[in-house]
Amino acid sequence: MEKFVIRGDKPLQGEIRVNGAKNSALKILAAALLTDDDCRISNVPQIEDIFRLLELLEDIGVKVKNGSRGEYLLNARGIKKSSLSPSIAQKLKGSILMTAPLLARYGRADFPQPGGCVIGQRPRDIFIDGFKAFGASVRETAKGYSLSAKKITGTKFVFPLVSVTATETMILLAVLAKGKTNLVNAACEPEIIALADFLNKMGAKIKGAGTPFMEIEGISHLAGGECEIMPDRIEGGSFAVLGAAANSPIKITGINPGHLEVLWFLLAKAGANFELGKDFVKIKPSQGLKAVGLKTHEYPGFPTDLQAPFVVLMTQASGLSLIHETIFEGRLFYADVLNQMGAKIIMCDPHRVVVQGPAKLSGRHLISPDIRAGIAMVIAALIAKGESVIENIYQIDRGYERIEERLQKLGADIKRINS
Ligand code: EPU
Repeated sequence: MEKFVIRGDKPLQGEIRVNGAKNSALKILAAALLTDDDCRISNVPQIEDIFRLLELLEDIGVKVKNGSRGEYLLNARGIKKSSLSPSIAQKLKGSILMTAPLLARYGRADFPQPGGCVIGQRPRDIFIDGFKAFGASVRETAKGYSLSAKKITGTKFVFPLVSVTATETMILLAVLAKGKTNLVNAACEPEIIALADFLNKMGAKIKGAGTPFMEIEGISHLAGGECEIMPDRIEGGSFAVLGAAANSPIKITGINPGHLEVLWFLLAKAGANFELGKDFVKIKPSQGLKAVGLKTHEYPGFPTDLQAPFVVLMTQASGLSLIHETIFEGRLFYADVLNQMGAKIIMCDPHRVVVQGPAKLSGRHLISPDIRAGIAMVIAALIAKGESVIENIYQIDRGYERIEERLQKLGADIKRINS
């Protein structure tokens, strides 16, 4: 098992570039299942979640060629089965995205029961209702779900709440459906716009991506396509928060600052000193931070995936910040671990904590529960005095490529140890 050993409180400085976005690449790679032609996808981050999805694609017969770093050529002509391998699919919640193209093209898809998830229940009811609305029958077995459909027919589907992967799954189903689909209360994340842009390049007819109202005219055939994965806004935001928490001059490059408007607003309100450029943010030392509260929200609100790093930042700010996690019910439990490091965080209920800062953090033995709490622990360890050991770093590798090597270039004392 690998772990990180971090000796904190070292001066950080320099430039760090963000990689392609995990939560865009997963969907774009799944979209390659919709065509028999080649799809060339570049800037794919080399992270565990992507490796799992590629394994799943290869397992059903997709030919995957790995070109130069981060470039993949996929061809789905030779699909030989439409059931997802349970052992791989259960490691990756996003694997459900593959079911829509399989159902649309081959009339069948089987996927396993999703396993439990540390950040919350992750129910699948909206997906099931969506599949049924498009004319599929859904059979639930002890092992999972069996979807089948003689024909996928366009429909009006109203999402009862905003869900990113459910929106993407219904888009993937609608593009090859017979007739028109209207999606109402669709998620508006930039990753959804990127997926729609790629599908439109392949010949799909999608309007309204990035708004809650989408209209999709189904067509019978999609061609191959090329796509460069968009920058990872969550990685960019995590690095910006690291710079502000460490009060260190760090330039984060290759970002789209327009994807993180609420983060910039809150950083400015907290007194962080930074400069935004066309594709970068330069974090500069500041005169001390003030507490600010936040409520996570669907895009363009404050992303739940940045909530944990921001809580670490608030441990360094003067005053009380109320942090309200509205999306997932299990995404604040890492707060206990930060308290062991010296933070003063009061858990009000599973959705809300109050952070009292500033607090001096000290190194501890930590276990990463999920990707985003994992990166928050890395940030906490980097600003803490003394040594921290972080275990279960598979969780961090799921979302952040070679994070230790990239942080070492900023001067961080972080090592990957194999024990
Ligand atoms: N929900 C339901 N029923 C459903 C589906 C979702 O009740 O059938 C609920 C969820 O329980 C949650 C809310 O809807 O309370 C929103 O969840 P959403 O479906 O939007 O989350 P997701 O699509 O499963 C994606 C990202 C997450 C990110 C969330 C929110 C991917 C692969 N995952 O998850 O990313 O936190 O949107 O923005 O795109 C991460 O990268 O670490 C991560 C967890």
